[in-house]
Parts: sequence; C-alpha cells; structure tokens
Amino acid sequence: MLNDKQITDWERDGFLVLPELIDPQRCDELAARSAELVAAFDPSSHSTVFRTNEQNRVADGTFLNSGSRIEFFWEEDAFDEHNNLVVDPTKAINKFGHAQHDLDPTFSSFSRQSPLPELVADLGVANPKLLQSMLIFKQPRIGGEVGSHQDAAFLYTDPVTVIGLWFALEDATIDNGCLFAQPGGHRSPLRERFRRAASGGTEFVELDATPLPQLGEADLVPLEVPKGTCVVLHGLLPHGSHPNRSETSRLAYSLHIIDGQATYPDDNWLQRPDLPLQGF
Ligand code: FE2
Repeated sequence: MLNDKQITDWERDGFLVLPELIDPQRCDELAARSAELVAAFDPSSHSTVFRTNEQNRVADGTFLNSGSRIEFFWEEDAFDEHNNLVVDPTKAINKFGHAQHDLDPTFSSFSRQSPLPELVADLGVANPKLLQSMLIFKQPRIGGEVGSHQDAAFLYTDPVTVIGLWFALEDATIDNGCLFAQPGGHRSPLRERFRRAASGGTEFVELDATPLPQLGEADLVPLEVPKGTCVVLHGLLPHGSHPNRSETSRLAYSLHIIDGQATYPDDNWLQRPDLPLQGF
C-alpha cells in the first residue's frame, strides 16, 4: 500500500505520517469503547501511577502482569501531595494497556483493520505479531510528559524489529502534547534495555552511552497530525511528548508489532504467559 516515496521517507526518517488512514468514525468508536472500559474500572484495587520519567519506574504486580491484561494507570498529577484524587476519576487515567488488542473485540477489530496488514508487510515485517497496545488519554491540563525514548528499549527483540503504529483518535497539536521525533534517529544505536531484574522488579541496562536527544532540543521535531492519522515509528527512533497543559485531550492508540522470526528474550519486562502472540 505504500508508494516508493513513502518507503524512501521511512528509510530516511524512521517515521511515516499517514493522514486519513483511519475513518473518523472508527476513531470515535474506539474512543467510546475506551470510555466504557474506564467507566467499568474499579479504582479501589489499583494504584499504579505511570511515571515515564522515573528511572525507578513503577514495577509492581499490576504493571508487570499487564502484558496479557487490560490494566489502568493514573495520571501522576491527578493526585495531591496527600494522595487524594483531585480531578474527576474519568479524567484521571493516563493510559490503559497492554493487551486490549487481543482481549477486547472493538480493539481487536481496530488493530486488524485494512490496510494495517498490508502496511506492516510493506515495511518488511515477515511474520508480524501484535505484541502490545496502549490507549493514551493525554488528559486536559494534567496529561503527563513521555520522556524521549526508543521503543526497542521496552519491546526488545534480537534483532530489533519493533514498529509502532500510533493512531491519532483526536487532533494532536503542539498545544495538547503531540509526538516529537528525531528524523533519522533510527540509524543511531539502541541506548538501553528495560528488563526484569534477577532480584525482582525491573531495571534499565545501558547498551550505548550516546545521549538521546531530549524534549525541548531542536533535534526533536513536532508531528502535529489530524484525527485519523497513523504515525509509524521505527523501534530505534527517539521520540516523546510534552505534558498536555491545554483544555483539550489528545487521545491516541498505539499498537506495537514485532517480527515473530526474531528472538523475544525471557527477561523482557513484558511477558504474556497465558496469552500466545497472535498475528493480524
Ligand atoms: Fe514510544
């Protein structure tokens, strides 16, 4: 489905912006289903706050077992210093993940719609496996920053094969915290891996000391895209997003695909012991 120019752009930049790939009505369906799932979520038994900038990333059971479940993660700024919720609970979730693409029919159907199989085949993935998905709310005013990172650090395979499909379910602008990415940065080495530590919990292991470009530096350029756009991200591409301080949310769905021909290590943080990997 990709033309020669798009393949050239992908190889040069490490990302691809595909406007109007998804029907706006399908975006609305996924947003509505997400709201239903949040409404049904019982917060009393869950407390994980998702902190992407902390080196000591929250590594409790909820997070570590979320690879084969649908778990909810709070916005850090939804709480005051006494740990009291200070916003409407329906506006307090940072994201949920990481297996709704297999466990929820609406998400499964969205994740397997045409032309996604053709798109991934054109990008050279021989045996695509749908590894992980996230519904990211980027809530008004409190939507948290996602620090600069490479997806392969978190979804590692040997060799690196992970590709991210990032869908704008609403318009993404500089104002509400759109993606920022480093054109060509996918040709730089993988800096670190996030893995399960032998002693329990998780740890980052440095692989290469070259600094990643950080949010706010000119190397990272904004990817402002309208609703219905799919942004394809190479697993080595440095990217992130600023906090959302605006009055509008920036709803996005991201789906990560690996090549089943590559090795998936047993110490990757994300494991799916009770849920075999599936293709399209
Ligand atoms: Fe990412």
